[in-house]
Amino acid sequence: MAKLIIEGKKRLSGEVRIGGSKNSSVALIPAALLGEGPSTLDNVPLIRDVQVFAQILKDLGASVTLDRNTMTVAPNGFSSHVAPYDLVRKLRASYYLMGVLLAKFGKAEVGLPGGCDIGPRPIDQHLKGFRALGAEVTVEGGVVKLFAKKLTGAPVYLDIPSVGATINIMLAASLAEGTTVIENAAKEPHVVDLANFLNAMGGRVLGAGTDVIRIKGVKRLHGAPHSVIPDDMEAATYMMAAVATGGDVEVKGVITKHLEPVTAKLKEAGAVIEQNGDYIRVIGPERPNPVNVKTLPYPGFPTDAQQPLVAVLARSTGVSVVQESMYDNRLGYVSELIKMGAKIKVEGRTAIVEGVPRLVGAPVTTNDLRAGASLVVAGLSAEGTTEIYGLEIIDRGYELIEEKLSAIGAKVFRVEN
Ligand code: EPZ
Repeated sequence: MAKLIIEGKKRLSGEVRIGGSKNSSVALIPAALLGEGPSTLDNVPLIRDVQVFAQILKDLGASVTLDRNTMTVAPNGFSSHVAPYDLVRKLRASYYLMGVLLAKFGKAEVGLPGGCDIGPRPIDQHLKGFRALGAEVTVEGGVVKLFAKKLTGAPVYLDIPSVGATINIMLAASLAEGTTVIENAAKEPHVVDLANFLNAMGGRVLGAGTDVIRIKGVKRLHGAPHSVIPDDMEAATYMMAAVATGGDVEVKGVITKHLEPVTAKLKEAGAVIEQNGDYIRVIGPERPNPVNVKTLPYPGFPTDAQQPLVAVLARSTGVSVVQESMYDNRLGYVSELIKMGAKIKVEGRTAIVEGVPRLVGAPVTTNDLRAGASLVVAGLSAEGTTEIYGLEIIDRGYELIEEKLSAIGAKVFRVEN
């Protein structure tokens, strides 16, 4: 198991450039299989989830090359409708292969996905969407089997604005006959990014970014070039790190609009924020103010930023109440923060964070991506040395984390084991 060693209490300052969005990339990469020619995705982040997805596509017969941050996906040779379980179990987003394989071949066999350990993550809304489009759906032995003689556009009302279900239904509907209307659709930036890519491929998707998305199926899609949007959650993590260390960091190459819920909370916590064009400068206070927050679908405060925010609030001057409304088990990392001296009580899905003047480095372990981000933020602001075990999990979603942190003044080292 690799670990990250942090010698904390260094005030971060300087510039950090944000990479392409993980959650966009893992939708765009399988979407490229829908084209009849090669697609080129630019600004792809060099993270483990992207590498795993590239391998899955190769196993399905596609040709994939990655040159720095540019990925080319050529679907010629892609002929299998069965996604190999040993790879799909490694990342949650492998469920997007269901929509893609169903659209392309009228059938799909995809193992139930893996991903972060943050509580039950059903996919009933995805399956409801496939059924509405005319697919037969069975789940046997942990494998989802889909079959449709023909996919036909249909209305789909989502019980919750699920990001995954919205994207999966968009993928399946893109080559269906007729129009699909997704109501109560997710509005996250990566839903819009996928719609833009599908449209560049010759698709007809309207309304992405609102809660009603219309997908008019087309007969064929072609390959297209596309640039992945910046990763708002990577940006949020560096913004939190700046606040936690009382630092002064310019987070560059972002879409500031996507970060508004995070910016607003950090201002409440006492950070000074300047933003213009594609950068956000964050100047952290000596100790943050306490703030209350509830995670919500976009444009609410993102669940993926909840964990690093709690690490910031652990050193605040008062009591904060943080409510996690998306996942049952997204506060498990709190026990690790407590090892570092944090005073946090968890009641159900709520964390009551009583700020303390200092955190102290300790050996800690992460079992999910954003929990890892939380421990990094805590380690940066703690006195002494923090060892974070499970660095592979952080590598799933953070590109070159130790290089980027070192460049803004952190003392961090990777130890491979
Ligand atoms: C996406 O997960 C992200 N993953 C998650 O990012 C993120 O936390 C989440 O959206 C919310 O923003 C990717 O984009 C690959 P959902 P997803 O479907 O699509 C329930 C990270 O750290 N639900 O919007 O799985 C579900 O259990 C990660 O980068 C159903 O009940 O999220 C959850 O409570 C982790 N039935 C809520 O909806 C369904 O069919 C939101 O899930 C689908 C979802």
